[in-house]
Amino acid sequence: MVKQFAEWLSTTSPSVFIQNHNSRVIPAIQSIHIVGIGVVLGSVFMIYLRILGWAGLDQTLRQTTDRFGPWLTGGLYVMLGTGVFMVIGEPVRELVTFSFWLKMFLVALSTVFAVTFRISLRKQERRWEEILVKRRSIKGLAILTFLIWVCIIILGRLIAYDHIWGPWSPATKA
Ligand code: HEM
Repeated sequence: MVKQFAEWLSTTSPSVFIQNHNSRVIPAIQSIHIVGIGVVLGSVFMIYLRILGWAGLDQTLRQTTDRFGPWLTGGLYVMLGTGVFMVIGEPVRELVTFSFWLKMFLVALSTVFAVTFRISLRKQERRWEEILVKRRSIKGLAILTFLIWVCIIILGRLIAYDHIWGPWSPATKA
C-alpha cells in the first residue's frame, strides 16, 4: 500500500521535476535539513541544561523557554518543509523504510512532549520554577526526551541504510 503510494508519488510532476534536478536540489535541501538539526538540537539542549540546572541559572525556566522555544518551533517547521520536499523527490527511498516511520513517530512524540511542557509551564509557572524543576523524575524525563532527539538524528541517517533492520525493513522485501 505504502509502496504503491510511493511509486505513484514518484510519477507526479513535482517529484519528476526534483528527480530531473536531483544532483543540485536534493543536496541543497539536505544541507538546509542538517542546519535545521543544529537549530532544533541547540535549542532543546539549552532548555534541558536549564531543567538539569547545569546552565542558564541566571534566567528563569520561563525566560529560557521563551527564548529558545521559538527557535525550536521555527527549526521544526524547516525540518518538516525540507523533509517533505525530500520525500516528494525520492518517495520510494524514504517511505519504504522502517527508519523513516520510526523517526516520524519519535518526531511526533517529542513535539507532543515539548508542546505539553510549554503549556504546563505557562499554566503553573510558579509550581514549575519552585517545585517541579527540582524533582529528580523531571530531570530524568528531560534526559530521556533528549535521548529521543538523538535517536531521531541517528534514524535520519539510517534511512539510507535501512537494510540493517533486517526483516523489519520493508525495503528488504521489495
Ligand atoms: C519533521 C519532519 C521530518 C521529516 C519529514 C524528515 C524527513 C527526512 C528525510 C526524507 C531525510 C532523507 C533521508 C535519506 O534519503 O537519506 C532526512 C534525513 C535526515 N533527517 Fe529528517 N525529517 C524530519 C525531521 C527531522 C528532525 C527533527 C531531525 C533531527 C533532530 C532530523 C534528522 C535527520 C538526519 C540526521 C538526516 C540524515 C541527513 C543526511 O545524512 O543526509 N530530521 N529526514
